[in-house]
Amino acid sequence: EGRNMPGQLPNLSMKQPFDNTNNQTIETEETNLPIPPLLKDHNDDPNKAEFHLTAQNATKEFVPGKTTETMGYNGDYLGPAIRVRKGEEVSVKVENELDEITTIHWHGLEVDGDADGGPHSGIKPGSSWSPEFKIQQPAATLWYHPHPEQETGKQVYKGLAGLFLIEDEVSDRLDIPKEYGVNDVPLVIQDKRFNSDGSFEYNLGMHDVMNGLQGATMLVNGAVNPLLEVPSGMVRLRLLNGSNASVYDLNFSNNQSFYQIASDGGFLEKPEKMDNLVLGPAERAEILVDFSDLKKGEMVRLQNKGSEFMKFTAKGKSQKDFTIPNKLTTIEKIEPNQAVKTRDFVFEGMGPTVNINGKQFDMDRIDEEVQLNDTEIWEISNESGMGMMGGTVHPFHAHGVQFQVLKRDGNPPPANETGWKDTVIVNPGEKVKVIATFKYPGDFMYHCHILEHEDAGMMGQFRVKE
Ligand code: C2O
Ligand code: CU
Ligand code: CU
Repeated sequence: EGRNMPGQLPNLSMKQPFDNTNNQTIETEETNLPIPPLLKDHNDDPNKAEFHLTAQNATKEFVPGKTTETMGYNGDYLGPAIRVRKGEEVSVKVENELDEITTIHWHGLEVDGDADGGPHSGIKPGSSWSPEFKIQQPAATLWYHPHPEQETGKQVYKGLAGLFLIEDEVSDRLDIPKEYGVNDVPLVIQDKRFNSDGSFEYNLGMHDVMNGLQGATMLVNGAVNPLLEVPSGMVRLRLLNGSNASVYDLNFSNNQSFYQIASDGGFLEKPEKMDNLVLGPAERAEILVDFSDLKKGEMVRLQNKGSEFMKFTAKGKSQKDFTIPNKLTTIEKIEPNQAVKTRDFVFEGMGPTVNINGKQFDMDRIDEEVQLNDTEIWEISNESGMGMMGGTVHPFHAHGVQFQVLKRDGNPPPANETGWKDTVIVNPGEKVKVIATFKYPGDFMYHCHILEHEDAGMMGQFRVKE
């Protein structure tokens, strides 16, 4: 069963007494769920792909009659989904039409440091960046977002994020829903704080500095109160927690269970049956939901901590029958005795003082050096904000590598954390042990994925050297 013990969620209430910012839950008519378009591949060679992305300023009407200033890739909010195959050589031309510096980081992608898109790869306004990389990892739902020093939170909040999907022989072979936007549907889930004029300006109050920016209005693929018509049968949802700072606890209004089939870095070995799913910032999960009992006209709602934010209706029987596969893939376990080194990462401090091992981010300092192809154990502990404030969750993320969770607070990880991960929730007082083999050279970031913590300096750099 999943990571869903009651009482395990940190205290992340939306409103605190000292939070004086405007945070209204927007009420709107339901709208059809927008599906991010698949980005056009400009290279005809099946083994190569060439994509074009432009980061731009835009406006969008989330609240009827009101204009919100946003940022988007190739559009007004979020970006298209990039879909590639394992083995493909990919080049992307990223143009910056913003008035400020940006970068684009492929979150979860195993690439060399110079293609990773961290804070060192700044793209100045009016210029472009063209990384090239080969896809060498299994089928997965990854994503991309900006990563400029101290500005990541604001740019992601304004709308810069998109999905990066990898397919391979395993995903080809599996008999699971694969029709993009029909029965294989991406859901980019975010929460926003709208001011009464419709803006979601990025002004950090005390509560935001402490816990990251959380809003009372949920968006899915950029829509408030969305509705998705699904075939009354098996549907695959690719969930991304694309929020700046919120941990979601998702379930269905009719309490129906579902099966998690993939975590951040790809398929689990077998589907895990769950009733609810806890998803921290930047984490992904693919789930199979059986809507065959959903009668035409009936509705099921997707909820976060009991409050609904999205509806599903059935359009009648219109697809073949799927069954839940017994086995999805084989994941070669990295054994602890393969590790040549153990490193400790202690997440400490609160608000403006958040740090890792007593240090705040310095672009000119490499904090850890790892030998190429070495396997290491990284032990991440959350010792921040204990006591009076009750503590803050820190979702740990490392660039350019997928890891496996060995232990969560001394215990084996829950079943849905036994696959490939690149982001892992570390609750207050917890210690999480992960293991990874570092196969790509270069300089990479590790950090808390609460973007306000990252921007405040809860980030370090590791160099994988040849
Ligand atoms: Cu989602 Cu440093 O990244
Ligand atoms: Cu990343
Ligand atoms: Cu944090």
